[in-house]
Amino acid sequence: MKVFLGLVIFVVCACSGNKGIRQADLIKNKKKSEYTALGSQYMISTQGAATTQAAKFVFERGGNIFDAAVAASFAISVERPHSTGLGGGGFMVIHNAKTGINEAYDFREMAPKAAHSKMYLDKEGKQVTERSLTGGLASGVPGLVAGVLEVHNKYGKLDLKTVMKPAIELAEKGMVIYPALERAMTAKAEKLCRFEASKKIFLDDGCKPKTAGDILYQKDLAETLKLIAHKKRAGFYEGPVAKMIAASQKKHGGLITTRDMRNYLVKKRPVVEGTYKGYKIVSMPPPSSGGTHVIQILNILEGYDLKSLGAQSAEAVHLTSSAMQIAFADRAEYMGDSDFANVPVETLVSKKYAAQMRERISLDKALSSKDFPVPFKELAKESDHTTHFTIMDGKGNVVSSTQTINGWFGSSVVAAGTGVVMNNEMDDFASHIGGVNLFGAIGGKNNLVEPRKRPLSSMSPSIVFNKEGVPVLALGTPSGTRILTCVMQTILNVLEHEMPLWEAVAATRYHHQWSPEEIRIGPPFFSTEVEEKLKSMGHKINHKSLGCSIQAIQRQSDGSILGVSDPRGEGMSYGI
Ligand code: GLY
Repeated sequence: MKVFLGLVIFVVCACSGNKGIRQADLIKNKKKSEYTALGSQYMISTQGAATTQAAKFVFERGGNIFDAAVAASFAISVERPHSTGLGGGGFMVIHNAKTGINEAYDFREMAPKAAHSKMYLDKEGKQVTERSLTGGLASGVPGLVAGVLEVHNKYGKLDLKTVMKPAIELAEKGMVIYPALERAMTAKAEKLCRFEASKKIFLDDGCKPKTAGDILYQKDLAETLKLIAHKKRAGFYEGPVAKMIAASQKKHGGLITTRDMRNYLVKKRPVVEGTYKGYKIVSMPPPSSGGTHVIQILNILEGYDLKSLGAQSAEAVHLTSSAMQIAFADRAEYMGDSDFANVPVETLVSKKYAAQMRERISLDKALSSKDFPVPFKELAKESDHTTHFTIMDGKGNVVSSTQTINGWFGSSVVAAGTGVVMNNEMDDFASHIGGVNLFGAIGGKNNLVEPRKRPLSSMSPSIVFNKEGVPVLALGTPSGTRILTCVMQTILNVLEHEMPLWEAVAATRYHHQWSPEEIRIGPPFFSTEVEEKLKSMGHKINHKSLGCSIQAIQRQSDGSILGVSDPRGEGMSYGI
């Protein structure tokens, strides 16, 4: 059931206006009823209306939350072909109410067996950026199909054909192109045009992108989905689809072979855990940096009374940005695939380490990124085009999943005959041992390319539990390195600032990632007064959207379940 929260939101925003919050500007332009829903049996918040409908379809046929998550994963792969898909990967954090167990499924792409640390460098050792962004060499071995099927195999109740039906129909019967998809096709038209199979689906004969309102048919993708529904994992990782992916790789200079496809491994990992003022936070461990840094930043902030400073006062924004800055310096230094590198997660999420980090933060003066003893000049670039969905049911089960092909349309290559857009996740590796810093130190080893390694991610599917162990909030978002700061801020808005969920999601967001040394603030911006104060503390300000689209679900004290899809995006929440 959808619910209109307008009055509540108006009152909240009016109250907080004197502290520089101007999220009312954002909220008033959006129809709240389209982005929020209230239920008690289940709630679905995804980045696409057809995807939310797919999960609903499954619930209506007696499926459980895991069937719904599988249906949503396949449907969003069709509905957002620029953001995610069968050619990509992702993470899924699950709370199983029956066993009380939290699990993290890692179906991140893996580097092909023939990959090596110099593959994105020219003969002089200089990075060739385009190689990890476009064409065959940009792709890791896709993990999404294997991961989602493993969840279905373990927990699903309905047969796979029923669960995949909405996705197959969406691909086969076509869907109306929406403005965000048109924007992505327009931005990538020149690259898509280079690859015949990509051009055939997303562009016209003259390489002009299809436009909003047109119908997008993905017939080859429908056939691939049918094969998976019929043959499960073998429908994708063996047989004709695997062969066509390997053939496309060969044609376009990539390294993925049929053996790489067959050998793809899903990893079930222990979740990363932390606490904030008595609440437990559960999130994604490496190869994501996300969960670790969400917890690290919250640990640092726990030592301040941010509530009395005011959610978006200059003082609170300064402290929060400084904690982000520290976390991102650590990200560059330590983070990578923990199957290959020694990643000190326990230290990074410890309260002791947070206390040490707090000592570095002055209450009124920005930290200089140059003072950090880290061996990088800048972080690897990350793109902002991923997707997230969250589902919760009345029994207390939760699924939070972030999935991606990395940049818009990934590598721009559709493997001919499959309809599968191949990822460019290899760009999330460090292309070389990091730049040299001011001190001449060298770093970046933990995230260098190695055969069968997974590139570092920021994806942060997260669940928050109250003191009684009840999951009270679950969320996630797309948008590269901003993922972890957007998730962290939404948790902070709810737990520390006690904002209603809609306001917590719609609030102004900001991001500091150590390099560049600036606070990036998304619209609606802070008041001039707040920004001037931040500048007087030594912060540089950059007005630029963060690109996040939070999909959040909250169990409320009366037992009802509230879903909120970010008003900045085209998501939809639905529940009964
Ligand atoms: N490709 C974006 C991420 O994994 O964080």
